[in-house]
Amino acid sequence: MIFERKPVFLQNHNLYKKPLNAIRKCDFCVSILVLYAQNMHKNSILESYVDRALMTGEKLRKIAIINQKGGVGKTTTTINLAAGLAKRDFKVLILDLDPQGNISTSLCVKSEKNMYHILVDDVNPKECIVNVQENIDVITSDQSLEKAEMILAGETSRETVLRRVMDGVNNYDFVILDCPPSLGLLNQNALLYAREAFIPASTDFLGINALKKMQIAIEALNDIFNHKIFISAVIPTMYDRRNKTCIEHYNELQRGYSDVLTNPIRVNSKLKEAPSQGKSIFDYANSSRGAKDYEKLVEIIIDEGE
Ligand SMILES: Nc1ncnc2c1ncn2[C@@H]1O[C@H](COP(=O)(O)OP(=O)(O)O)[C@@H](O)[C@H]1O
Ligand SMILES: [Mg+2]
Repeated sequence: MIFERKPVFLQNHNLYKKPLNAIRKCDFCVSILVLYAQNMHKNSILESYVDRALMTGEKLRKIAIINQKGGVGKTTTTINLAAGLAKRDFKVLILDLDPQGNISTSLCVKSEKNMYHILVDDVNPKECIVNVQENIDVITSDQSLEKAEMILAGETSRETVLRRVMDGVNNYDFVILDCPPSLGLLNQNALLYAREAFIPASTDFLGINALKKMQIAIEALNDIFNHKIFISAVIPTMYDRRNKTCIEHYNELQRGYSDVLTNPIRVNSKLKEAPSQGKSIFDYANSSRGAKDYEKLVEIIIDEGE
């Protein structure tokens, strides 16, 4: 990882702990970052950091919750992150890009027109938005999205359809994309629309393995499409501190991803039960460990953006 060898004066300047808006306002910080990024590997997280630091006026944060491995907590994180942000009065739009359609099942929301119609029939996304609760809107998906992926495969500029069609949807603070467990066209569309990737990684061997592959895939995509999505959060999930393997893998994450690692989301049965009631963890079991962990994650995400 690039941050293993932090230049001393960067440490002194405390750049790594500074909120982004403070960095943006400080000419010294920005110039140091730019200088360093120019000398670093092209796709380093540092370069992304510069990009982010220099980004001004972009209020909307577009976040892909992504990992090509299934069952690592992508949908759970999407729903509870959205709910936590909504509680704090941020306006959130969830895009379900998974043909399993778990967002609509978990939030008990139905829609006549969905992601398929946006991607294939050129339907305006605004016609597909459904309000779920205060501050949370959703564009759902269902199995038809598998067909959409096949149809898109025959089109030109097929990887950037989502980016083009979502261009006019700006009246949110966050757009959060629940991505499918694959590296196919749907995820390429997600990554080329979003500016940030959050990777939930289960704290086990396969989870970390998938995280590494995802990082390589994102770097390749950035290279090929001259895009700049960056991994701004690695979220350890299914964490059980009584389990030695979990601890070992969590430690590995701390060593490799310290600059973007968030608090761990512990194993919690309430998180499993909440979708069957159509509720977020905050509405289902507000004092549970799951609610506490997602609350903390929300705090980190908000701080990071300020
Ligand atoms: N921290 C957790 N503790 C216990 N169960 C969890 C936790 N996070 C997710 N789950 C459960 O694990 C399963 C897979 O989670 P999900 O969010 O659907 O993963 P993905 O979207 O990556 O496939 C679901 O049944 C979910 O309720
Ligand atoms: Mg899912």
